[in-house]
Amino acid sequence: MNAMSLPLKSLLGLAVVATTAFAAPNVALSQEADVERGRSLYRTCQTCHGAQGQGNAAMNAPRLAGQFPWYLERQLRHFRNGIRGGERDTYGALMAPMAAALPDDQAVTDVSAYIATF
Ligand code: HEC
Repeated sequence: MNAMSLPLKSLLGLAVVATTAFAAPNVALSQEADVERGRSLYRTCQTCHGAQGQGNAAMNAPRLAGQFPWYLERQLRHFRNGIRGGERDTYGALMAPMAAALPDDQAVTDVSAYIATF
């Protein structure tokens, strides 16, 4: 064994542990998702984001397809609790009422899981 290999391995090990510790809260949806309910909830979203979540530049609505469900879920919660879509957030202000109209917290999880199927 060379003298440098052990400390380097230890550092890498620490990096992996640290990365895992910080990433863990984000990787899972917050609760179990009902994708079929998400499909029906998504009907109101497709006017702006497109039937396949492809986005629509004319509506300033970004592509959602291909995005991680936990990220979508987190952004929807940010809109619902006012972190995004405040008075200085012109485009976010278009989206905030849409997120607010989702009937309950479970709906956030369900629609995010459905979008993640695109
Ligand atoms: C009236 C048009 C409109 C409708 C309807 C709409 N959105 Fe949006 N959405 C937007 C716009 C515009 C943005 C971009 C906001 C910004 O630039 O900050 C956005 C942003 C988002 C984002 C953030 C994307 C990111 O990468 O940060 C998510 C997630 C989202 N919408 C999901 C939905 C869902 C789910 C629905 C249906 C419940 C929906 N949207 C309905 C216009 C709309």
